[in-house]
Amino acid sequence: MTIAAKDVAARYRKILDTCTPYVISYTANWPYLDMAPMGVEIPVERRYTATSLESRDVVNGLHHLDSFAFGPQEMLMPRWVLFDCGEFPGMVFGFGKRASELSPEVRVRYHVGDDDLDWDSRATRHRAGSKRASSVPTRDRFVPLSMWVAIPCVEPGAWFGHNLSSANLVLGDDALPGLGTLTKLLGMKCAKVRKQYGATQWDSTSLSIHLTLGELELLSAYTPAHTHEETFSYLLEVDDARLEAILSEGWQKPALDHDRLMNAEDSDAIRALHRELEAGARHQLIDVIRGEPNQMRLRKIP
Ligand SMILES: CC(C)(COP(=O)(O)OP(=O)(O)OC[C@H]1O[C@@H](n2cnc3c(N)ncnc32)[C@H](O)[C@@H]1OP(=O)(O)O)[C@@H](O)C(=O)NCCC(=O)NCCS
Repeated sequence: MTIAAKDVAARYRKILDTCTPYVISYTANWPYLDMAPMGVEIPVERRYTATSLESRDVVNGLHHLDSFAFGPQEMLMPRWVLFDCGEFPGMVFGFGKRASELSPEVRVRYHVGDDDLDWDSRATRHRAGSKRASSVPTRDRFVPLSMWVAIPCVEPGAWFGHNLSSANLVLGDDALPGLGTLTKLLGMKCAKVRKQYGATQWDSTSLSIHLTLGELELLSAYTPAHTHEETFSYLLEVDDARLEAILSEGWQKPALDHDRLMNAEDSDAIRALHRELEAGARHQLIDVIRGEPNQMRLRKIP
């Protein structure tokens, strides 16, 4: 199935019409990626390897995106972490725009133009050794507005979702609803993911996106190995039919009954659930009921 052949919901169509997909991965990985996930062609000039200086603007852009997405959560990615864990061995997929298509406010958030004397007419002067320096005229620089970073696991077909970020946090009136969802969905198709592992916090604002894409089997509920111990780790089994259906206007999540409601801030309940998992019980997170605090809808896997 290709997106073009389907009736795609207006929110996703707008992203596809106004943004360009990109990928970053070492070139030896490229033949194993789908460079046209669901028919959405990643243009040749937007296929990057972080080993080349050509990627420097987009890589710098990822770190600015990370700073406003994860900085407040104290989980900023050092440059070497993104290179060693994502850009080189795995992949980064997302959508972006040319700098001239962004508002001045958004350009400031991405530090685009910092090293320019004249925004409109003059190409950026190359300053050797500077992380900011670029030979691309400022207005043409490609600015990544979203990213899904994934790391391949040793298990065939399995990938670990390392980072999901969306510039909707700073786009204001130009926000693109659905950007985070479409980025993760097409990123999974690009990497041909069959099993998606991940780790996220019980109070994360991203839960609805992950739960749109599938139910999450809990692998841990309490994870002191992580920076934030009230992190859960999960497995999402990729269902291609569901990924296609999600893109249609009016798609609704399947109605599933829960057998437990858990307050996302209840540390005792989180630890008790974790003890059950370690004892061999299997539970799925099927939905979140937003509130103060959020309530997690869980069900046992027989
Ligand atoms: C979390 C984050 C990625 C969301 O990005 P976004 O572009 O705003 O995401 P979307 O627009 O796709 O989704 C936003 C909401 O719209 C909903 N949505 C998506 N597609 C939809 C559709 N077709 N119809 C109705 N609602 C839809 C999503 O379920 C989500 O619901 P919520 O408000 O209950 O959470 C972004 O805020 C971010 O970068 N946050 C900081 C970093 C972070 O926490 N990342 C996740 C770590 S695991």
